[in-house]
Amino acid sequence: MEQAALFTIFGGTGDLAKRKLYPSLFRLYKKGSLAKHFAVIGTARRPWSDDHYREIVRDTIKDLHPTKEEAEEFSNHFYYLSHNVNDTKHYDQLKELSDRLDEEYQLEGNRLFYLAMAPQFFGTIVNHLKSQGILTETGYNRLVIEKPFGFDYDSADELNEQIRNVFPEEAIFRIDHYLGKEMIQNISVIRFANNIFESLWNNRYIENIQITFSEALGVEDRGGYYENSGALKDMVQNHILQVVSLLAMEVPTSFSNKSLREEKVKVLQAIRRYDEEEVAQNFVRGQYAAGKLDDKEFAAYRDEPNVAEDSTMETFVAGKFMIDNFRWADVPFYIRTGKRMTEKGTRINIVFKQVPVNVFNFEQEETGGKELPQNILTIYIQPTEGFSLSLNGKQIGQGFNPEPVKLDFRQSEEVTGNSPEAYEKLLLDALNGDGTNFSHWDEVANSWEIVDRIRKAWDQTTPEFPNYAAGTMGPDCAFELLAKNDHEWAWQP
Ligand code: BG6
Repeated sequence: MEQAALFTIFGGTGDLAKRKLYPSLFRLYKKGSLAKHFAVIGTARRPWSDDHYREIVRDTIKDLHPTKEEAEEFSNHFYYLSHNVNDTKHYDQLKELSDRLDEEYQLEGNRLFYLAMAPQFFGTIVNHLKSQGILTETGYNRLVIEKPFGFDYDSADELNEQIRNVFPEEAIFRIDHYLGKEMIQNISVIRFANNIFESLWNNRYIENIQITFSEALGVEDRGGYYENSGALKDMVQNHILQVVSLLAMEVPTSFSNKSLREEKVKVLQAIRRYDEEEVAQNFVRGQYAAGKLDDKEFAAYRDEPNVAEDSTMETFVAGKFMIDNFRWADVPFYIRTGKRMTEKGTRINIVFKQVPVNVFNFEQEETGGKELPQNILTIYIQPTEGFSLSLNGKQIGQGFNPEPVKLDFRQSEEVTGNSPEAYEKLLLDALNGDGTNFSHWDEVANSWEIVDRIRKAWDQTTPEFPNYAAGTMGPDCAFELLAKNDHEWAWQP
């Protein structure tokens, strides 16, 4: 159904707007969710004209192969305003333009403000939206915010106070783009629509859970940002803890925004808060050295642009979270993420416990003796999407030798290629006012509390970096972390 709305994008000339937002808006346009009654105001400091802005917008959707007319028609909905976020006069211009477009396109007073810029400006922007009368009385006013949401608990709390002075929680949509990914959303369906899994989803049957977010890319041109963030804040505080909460939460009473959020928050509250010594035992970090993969040479992190020569920032984290509740007591949730690893791969392995006795007592070299291979449910988030289950079956022939077999389901490339992109889904959710796939303040707050403790403990010591070669699955300590508990990474490319 067509949605009427005015999008105001702060940071309209930025990378995110160009790579993600404009193409996603175009996809929504192609599908009819946006049609006649929408307009976009892009703001940033540069003095661009509407024409130039529209040309840029058309350039960002080229890969989606629009016809010339389509591209023209779509981009004609875009308006540019050169804007200094600290200058009150500029907000008056923004109000004027917003009101004019509202009337021209019959937008019913629906406004979606998208903050795709550094968080230090959020407070100023929202205050001005209110004081200069840019919020409407007739339709809705919603705020969509990009990460990072603060750089620790205190700054996030302050930021939250500022925006909550203007927008109520239900009108704030904090983006975690992983929550828009198909297979992350599928976690809940795999769990709650399959009795065979949900009945076993606890510490009686699950030995450990492993979450890997590996990236083949380095920091690219984001050295400036990354030097203040590192893998812990860049990936663990948001994406990984969201995934942990989806995997570990209790079954919500209904699949609604409110119930889901209540359950996710309970998990985050139950994650063990480590003291300094526990951090040292349960979390390890790494930074990539130069390395070679498939005949390609990669530079060390310290040699990347805008990175200090003696940087101690981590480009890799592995750790063990414990969730102190009835369902998860004693089940490690292992996580790892890093840049310049062997390949891009996001996957979750649910490793089930062994059967109490191996009645086959089989002795095969590949399984290391009498132990049976463990049942593992693997959820493939990307680049392929699907899930697989490793079981044991009988080897054909004489006797009763078990051998591993795998039930494997992968979505075809055609299906994944045509499925909506994360940002497209999240934008549509925001238009529909559905906060299910966004991070709420209490989730963000708990995540920062957990991550702050790790960061603080790490800041007490100087790591011996670099400690893994580009193109590998991280430093040795990430393997030792599991070996200490007689576990190992199920995925070892
Ligand atoms: C972002 C991080 O949130 O997620 C990046 O800032 C990271 O450093 C990216 O590369 C990974 O996202 P995706 O969708 O490519 O897996």
